Amino acid sequence: MYTHPKFARRGVGRLILRLCEAAAAVEGFTRVQLMATLSGEPLYKACGYREIERTTAAPVGGVVVPLILMGKAVSGSSG
Ligand SMILES: CC(C)(COP(=O)(O)OP(=O)(O)OC[C@H]1O[C@@H](n2cnc3c(N)ncnc32)[C@H](O)[C@@H]1OP(=O)(O)O)[C@@H](O)C(=O)NCCC(=O)NCCS
Repeated sequence: MYTHPKFARRGVGRLILRLCEAAAAVEGFTRVQLMATLSGEPLYKACGYREIERTTAAPVGGVVVPLILMGKAVSGSSG
């Protein structure tokens, strides 16, 4: 997930998450999960996601990227 730097901190990330959660809820899902990079964690926390476990991506060229599996309950009226 990337917001163009010129538009950062204007609620674009929060809006995209809200739309995704609403679409999932309409399909009958009651929970959503995502894999966060460390730079995305503050956004997801601010939107109600909680850490499930810390992990890493499969190393590419010797580079190991830390990731956080995060999740949140959703309902038809979630915002
Ligand atoms: C992370 C990213 C997608 C956030 O997008 P955004 O459109 O700026 O997010 P929003 O404006 O909706 O932010 C909603 C809330 O998330 C939190 N937040 C977002 N970016 C933050 C940051 N850099 N530091 C701390 N909190 C942050 C804040 O609580 C913010 O609310 P506030 O602005 O009222 O304080 C954007 O900064 C980005 O593209 N970063 C580079 C790519 C990246 O790291 N993506 C994550 C991949 S997992």
